[in-house]
Amino acid sequence: MIIQDRMEIVEHKQIARAIFELTLRGKLTGEITSPGQFVHVRVSDSFDPLLRRPISIAKVDRDKQEITLLYRADGHGTGVLSKRITGDTVDVLGPLGNGFPIEATEAGETAYLIGGGIGVPPLYELSRQLTAKGVKCVHILGFESEDVVFYQEQFAALGDTHIATVDGTEGTKGFVTHVMDKLPTDFATFYTCGPMPMLKAVQQAYADKKGYVSFEERMGCGIGACFACVCETKDQSERSYVKICSDGPVFEAGVVSI
Ligand code: FAD
Ligand code: FES
Repeated sequence: MIIQDRMEIVEHKQIARAIFELTLRGKLTGEITSPGQFVHVRVSDSFDPLLRRPISIAKVDRDKQEITLLYRADGHGTGVLSKRITGDTVDVLGPLGNGFPIEATEAGETAYLIGGGIGVPPLYELSRQLTAKGVKCVHILGFESEDVVFYQEQFAALGDTHIATVDGTEGTKGFVTHVMDKLPTDFATFYTCGPMPMLKAVQQAYADKKGYVSFEERMGCGIGACFACVCETKDQSERSYVKICSDGPVFEAGVVSI
């Protein structure tokens, strides 16, 4: 069920250049059903900015009723959010959308989790749930440069982790596809989230594989009411469009036109 919760800021810290880790406590945690769902955050109690900002749920701790968000503060809304301090409460709407299906991969099988930049966060909770189930996770994570890389130790604790940076300051120089080119293709499933060109390249490279793609489209309402996030589907005979917020953000590879 989607609820509006005033969540308490338990911890809020910078973990890389302009990248923040925000831990929130509240009853919304109990409503989360799958990794890859997101929340819609009112970044300040004033109406500036007016619209909420969508952020993926990067980690869920049901015992403590806590969620962790990882976000890049490089615009007005996320900049305002980055100033909020421990003990404050934040107006959060969620959980929203349909996340990644962990049932698509069996225990003992291998899954590739491929993320780029601010598309990396939802893959962390996904990996936690897949590894807990007995799936072998291989992480391929792309960033601009070393100073914006985050959570590499946390991912490495769960499975093989390959980092690519565009400028070569950490890991492989280039894009996630340069890492993918060197890895075997005998995996069962891929899950991916990141910028559109990356999603397109991953989908093309693994066209013969079962895969799931999460889209981070600009949003208004976040609940399917405003049509701000509409994208075309490939199969024009069925439905010609989907709403990323309420039909997604995760879709089976090949469903949405990229
Ligand atoms: P501005 O550029 O000032 O924003 C102006 C408008 O554009 C706002 O309405 C904003 O929501 C929208 N916008 C700008 N960039 C994006 C973008 N890349 N994607 C979608 N909308 C955008 N970012 C993270 O750092 N971590 C996450 O875990 C994360 N998860 C997301 C999950 C979903 C489902 C979606 C749709 C987006 C997610 N984003 C995430 C992107 C994040 O919502 C934007 O970076 C943020 O809204 C930018 O707001 P701003 O006010 O700081 O920037
Ligand atoms: Fe309003 Fe998706 S953001 S319909």
